[in-house]
Amino acid sequence: MTGAGRGIGREIALKLGALGADVVVNDVARPEAAEAVVAELEAMGRRGVVVLGDVSNESDVKSIVETAEAALGPIDILVNNAGLTRDGLFVRMEEADWDLVLNVNLKGAFLMTRAVARGMMKRRSGSIVNLSSVVGRRGNAGQANYSAAKAGLIGLTKTLARELASRNIRVNAVAPGYIQTEMTAALPDEVKNTIAGGTPLNRLGDPSDVAEAVAFLAGDTAKFITGIVLPVDGGLGI
Ligand SMILES: NC(=O)c1ccc[n+]([C@@H]2O[C@H](COP(=O)([O-])OP(=O)(O)OC[C@H]3O[C@@H](n4cnc5c(N)ncnc54)[C@H](O)[C@@H]3O)[C@@H](O)[C@H]2O)c1
Repeated sequence: MTGAGRGIGREIALKLGALGADVVVNDVARPEAAEAVVAELEAMGRRGVVVLGDVSNESDVKSIVETAEAALGPIDILVNNAGLTRDGLFVRMEEADWDLVLNVNLKGAFLMTRAVARGMMKRRSGSIVNLSSVVGRRGNAGQANYSAAKAGLIGLTKTLARELASRNIRVNAVAPGYIQTEMTAALPDEVKNTIAGGTPLNRLGDPSDVAEAVAFLAGDTAKFITGIVLPVDGGLGI
């Protein structure tokens, strides 16, 4: 579970724990927040371990996966949740902001999945869920880098679903709308109200809305579902 120290990732980690999973809590910063997630997992009788590391860095990814498997055993479920934004109008977008957003959101999922998939292939079992976004499906002014990364995740999801299906590994994505986390906290209230107003269910989402959908796709209830992109957006992307 990447980027699990806060926000949607934290909520997914706790939901998977509540459903019986032991959880590797990866994040790139704030070890105390990740430790707090592990404490909550332990309080519900699950095992958890904090593994710090940057998902966009190949050597970090190698050690994340090695440390995780040494602590909790083979990885059955991978949730590629780590992500960030660096918004700005396209013509003024700095190359560094393009690279950072593509590296964390898209290359991070590539590196993590490659590191985990080999073991899943040997065991002929696994489930991978990627965090895309409504903006990966529809685009969004001011988010060329982020929407390109999230659209890239949709292509990666569908391709890996085809490539890994014969080994009984399912690969799906969720495409959340606007969810109330620290990532969207900086948006002015006016913008939030406009987004909520344009959402058929007339509100922003909560991290738990996304966690429920990820848990469904990750688990055996969805055992005949692969290659889908499930919107969790209150109808915003219709
Ligand atoms: N909040 C939304 O409205 C929304 C909508 C659609 C999709 N998403 C996606 O959901 C995911 C979680 O978003 P959130 O709102 O909880 O964001 P958030 O910023 O609250 O949390 C993201 C977490 O990822 C971690 N992270 C960042 N870079 C990392 C790296 N290189 N390696 C490991 N961890 C890293 C951060 O430290 C943070 O804990 C992201 O992929 C985001 O793009 C969010």
